[in-house]
Amino acid sequence: MIVDKQGRQFRNLRVSLTAACNYACTYCVPNGQRLQPAAHELGGDELLKAVALLVSAGGINKLRITGGEPLLSPKFDVFAAGLADLKLDDIAITTNGQLIERKREALLGSAIKRANISLDTLDAQRFSEIARGGDLATVLRGIDLLQDAGWKLKVNMVPLRSANADQIVPLLEYCMERDIELRYIELMNMGHLRTGNGFAKDFFGMEDILQLIGKSYEYSRADAPFDSTSVRYKVPGHGHFGIIANESAPFCSTCTRLRLASNGDIYGCLSNSNHHSMKHLIELPEHEALPQLQALLGNALQDKQDLSFRGEVTVMKFIGG
Ligand code: 5AD
Repeated sequence: MIVDKQGRQFRNLRVSLTAACNYACTYCVPNGQRLQPAAHELGGDELLKAVALLVSAGGINKLRITGGEPLLSPKFDVFAAGLADLKLDDIAITTNGQLIERKREALLGSAIKRANISLDTLDAQRFSEIARGGDLATVLRGIDLLQDAGWKLKVNMVPLRSANADQIVPLLEYCMERDIELRYIELMNMGHLRTGNGFAKDFFGMEDILQLIGKSYEYSRADAPFDSTSVRYKVPGHGHFGIIANESAPFCSTCTRLRLASNGDIYGCLSNSNHHSMKHLIELPEHEALPQLQALLGNALQDKQDLSFRGEVTVMKFIGG
């Protein structure tokens, strides 16, 4: 087992299937241009092999599929079908929800049983302005589809002062009515937000969020799993919500996340652009690949930040949230 000086290990692998996305959210990309696949992306079978190696080498027991937008990639079907063989405790996906209906069979036939859907507003017009792609009604139908199939869902919302702060309570109500846990993700100072004034202008943090909710609902602190990123709250009689407070309540000290990008690079930390390619290990026999991979994982673990998210030029689009 590879453990760092703060006792952290990798348990939780996030695989970005593709860097491509069918949205161009204002806070993720600067110019409205949709993201393209990364150069030299691995295929579905290669990604499955990479994941199998990481599971054997590093004590991984949880997997989350991310992107870009994972359902956009043609390799999703092969990848999803192969997941059952990996014997993981928990497999989830983060998606913007636009293609859930189209990928219904591959999704429902797979070992994935949980999804986090990114949804920043319930207002169709505002949806187009923030996401610059897709449409709201399709996402809402996708949410219903997965819920009807018995999946456990969360919704991720990134509150932005200038664009959707007024949606904080409506989205909470939408989620509570459906027994979905809403998680507010504090804006992270990544990519173009770091260079312009976008972060300072739009950051709407935990205190602001709680104050706003407090005007409509009573809430109290609730338990969360030890390596959870969110500060959880209970709204008595209605449900739960969480805040992923990268800035206000950093969670680096209990981080167990490892990221595999679609080109075969592994990242030990979202706040560090250091990466380590494992592409060359995929074709090797396991007894040769594993010791080399363990050395890589040792280096990747040292990339973790001690305390809090510092911000990076790397953006979510490449390595997933
Ligand atoms: N800050 C916070 N959340 C972000 N996401 C993408 N970019 C940022 C950012 N700069 C969110 C998406 C999605 C999740 C994977 O990450 O909205 O819900």
